[in-house]
Amino acid sequence: MIKRVLVTGGAGFIGSHIVADLCEKGYEPIVLDNFSNSSPKIIPVLEKICSKKLELVQIDIKDKEKLFNFFKSASVDAVIHLAAYKAVGESVEKPLKYYENNISGLVNLLLAMQEHKVKNFIFSSSATVYGDAKVVPIPENSPISAANPYGRTKLMSEEILKDTAFSDKDLSIIALRYFNPIGAHKSADIGELPSGIPNNLFPYIAQVALGKLPHLNVFGNDYDTPDGTCIRDYIHILDIASGHTAALEKIASGFKGFDVYNLGTGIGYSVLDIVNAFKKASGIDLPVKPAARRAGDVPRSCANPDKANKELNWKAKYNLEEMCKDGWAWYKKHPEGFV
Ligand code: UFG
Repeated sequence: MIKRVLVTGGAGFIGSHIVADLCEKGYEPIVLDNFSNSSPKIIPVLEKICSKKLELVQIDIKDKEKLFNFFKSASVDAVIHLAAYKAVGESVEKPLKYYENNISGLVNLLLAMQEHKVKNFIFSSSATVYGDAKVVPIPENSPISAANPYGRTKLMSEEILKDTAFSDKDLSIIALRYFNPIGAHKSADIGELPSGIPNNLFPYIAQVALGKLPHLNVFGNDYDTPDGTCIRDYIHILDIASGHTAALEKIASGFKGFDVYNLGTGIGYSVLDIVNAFKKASGIDLPVKPAARRAGDVPRSCANPDKANKELNWKAKYNLEEMCKDGWAWYKKHPEGFV
């Protein structure tokens, strides 16, 4: 039976929502984080949402010794591994930082699991592995590639996991390829908290709505899409979270080996669609300015979620209006984050 679930990166945007979902569904999450891109102040907030004290392990996954020591006494049933760096631009500047954390960290974790006979693993992968896909909506069996070191860490991680699962037939490993998670928890007390100027569209828009940034730069309006701006598959963070518990259930029902699933809605929205939906949800006018294309952006990225719908018995249930409403509620309630 899977009960005790270690969530690496459990204090981050995605991790905290997974921890809340695990609690709601009767699991016992253990939060592992080094707070390099999150705040310890989230812990009491999460405990309030979960109505219980949480087990917290402050370890850097690069620290093999501490990781091994933790596993010695932790009795973990499954690991959900999110702890990774994720800024595309930074990964081009500092590739070794990305390989050290995202690849060595993963290997350390798998070695610690092997040593302590933990057999169940869920990995946070990304739609970035599809690059500029020929077939959109994108099925899991599309060719995969990487355009930058960050993407390459996701690609390599999937390969490492496939080899590891092949070497030990008792392992159950599922990689989830996230499309674009946005929105926030219904309590409006946890959400995305990027440090500095956000790279991603939704947090950037929120900063404009809060008056902290003057306008949104729309990166490219001459793509071959209906309004000229890029199309993405935005998905509510609560749906991303429930995708993980669905994957745990698949493992609990006897799945062995390695498999990958898209977590997306299957519906694509342009940058301007998001701006308009956000305006509607917030009642705030958002100044936008056309800007040059951003290097590396693909015109269209949208999931074919059929495999996850069927085999994980999971389906995204929130629409864009709810993503914007819930996301904005979080930013409005906590404009400075956890202070
Ligand atoms: N965009 C703007 N202005 C901004 C920010 C973004 O116009 O200030 C546009 C981008 O050009 C893109 C769209 O909004 O067309 C979405 O951009 P995001 O940065 O929010 O998301 P991406 O799809 O580029 O990136 C996400 C993840 C990455 C992952 C990638 C592919 O953040 O980690 O999906 O899976 F690599």
